[in-house]
Amino acid sequence: MEINNTDEKKERALLISVDTGRFNADISLKELEELAKTAGAEVVGTSVQKRPTPEVATYVGTGFLYDITRFCEHSEIDLIIADDELTPIQIRNLEDETNTRVIDRTTLILDIFAGRARSKEGKLQIELAQLKYSLPRLTGKGVSLSRLGGGIGTRGPGETKLESDKRHIRRRIQNIKEELDKVKSRRDMLHERRKKNGAISVAIVGYTNAGKSTLMNKLTDAGVLQEDKLFATLDPTARKLVLPNGQQIMLIDTVGFISRLPHQLVDAFRSTLEEATYADLILNVCDASSAQCYDNIATTNSILTSLFPDESISVPVITVFNKCDLSHSPSAIAFPFADAKTSVKISAKTGEGIDDLLLAIQNALPQTKKRVKLLIPFSKGSIINDIRNDGVIHSEEYTADGTVIDATVDIVYLNRIEEYIVN
Ligand code: GTP
Repeated sequence: MEINNTDEKKERALLISVDTGRFNADISLKELEELAKTAGAEVVGTSVQKRPTPEVATYVGTGFLYDITRFCEHSEIDLIIADDELTPIQIRNLEDETNTRVIDRTTLILDIFAGRARSKEGKLQIELAQLKYSLPRLTGKGVSLSRLGGGIGTRGPGETKLESDKRHIRRRIQNIKEELDKVKSRRDMLHERRKKNGAISVAIVGYTNAGKSTLMNKLTDAGVLQEDKLFATLDPTARKLVLPNGQQIMLIDTVGFISRLPHQLVDAFRSTLEEATYADLILNVCDASSAQCYDNIATTNSILTSLFPDESISVPVITVFNKCDLSHSPSAIAFPFADAKTSVKISAKTGEGIDDLLLAIQNALPQTKKRVKLLIPFSKGSIINDIRNDGVIHSEEYTADGTVIDATVDIVYLNRIEEYIVN
């Protein structure tokens, strides 16, 4: 059992896991540790039991249960977090045996998502997931209510309350579904409007903690919430960005990916990611300093692929290897995506490679704007007004022959001003 010591007064947590060989238990436990810290817990210890399958009644085996019970007593553990989805029976038995509150990975993730959701849709989706998850687990609570009362007389009222709780939850689930339908149709309308206005959008996606919000900030000074905690971003956030060629794009930050996402959350997660399917370009950001870098890219790609109806990504993707300032830098990693068009090394923190990324974005997008130098006669002042309204004027200088401007204009407008282009 590994033990960490810190002085802060937080909920003291013990993380437990059954390693059946289905997935890499150590990596998953490390991720659970990050999740627990994000939720505000102090991780005091972690403990893994190797078994072919979890114990049906208690999740872990008898000897292991004895050990963690002693550990909880001696180390004043407030909370046990299991790196799995537990049944109501397992939770109840573990709590009885260890005399400590027990939650599972799904509850922990739902808790973090609930605290972080910002959009109306995000909040509704999380509430829906929480209600759906708690509905079958209410039986456990009901049983423990009856047991608390300890016998005849307490059982009836306990179960009646349980039934009314369940009815209430089912009604709320129905209401949320109806509200979500309305929110979704509003979102679809918004997309239509954006499309009509010809707005080009670039979605930033990637594994949680890869540095998406940091990159968004670096690129746009957007002030998007950014913390060293998992899931700092739950809702897509759009910001305007002007590329070096003067083209304006909409940059969209999305929720971070995670492996073994609880299935209750898949819908909530997908709805925030649908933004990516409407995008003209996707930036798949990964933490190049992480040993899991390529696994994380693969997870991201497979989730992305599943979002497209025909199961193949129809939007161009640039893989962004972030955090290249760290010692385990991406230069040490063999790049399977060495093509400069499809991958870029950057540090969102130091700004290294940001110019290359901007150029890569510019090259990957359909060219709709062009930067030109123009000499506009004084008699054609209205052209300058048009450019000011629909394009970008970078500099303006009055000469004896007219106004010289350096401007970015829409390609379709070029033929109307062709005769004034210089150089
Ligand atoms: P989620 O919201 O959880 O999906 O995370 P995210 O991908 O938006 O990550 P975020 O931008 O919040 O960054 C996570 C942590 O990585 C923060 O502590 C950042 O300061 C740090 N970070 C981001 N980019 C870099 C980088 O280029 N170099 C270094 N050294 N740290 C970085």
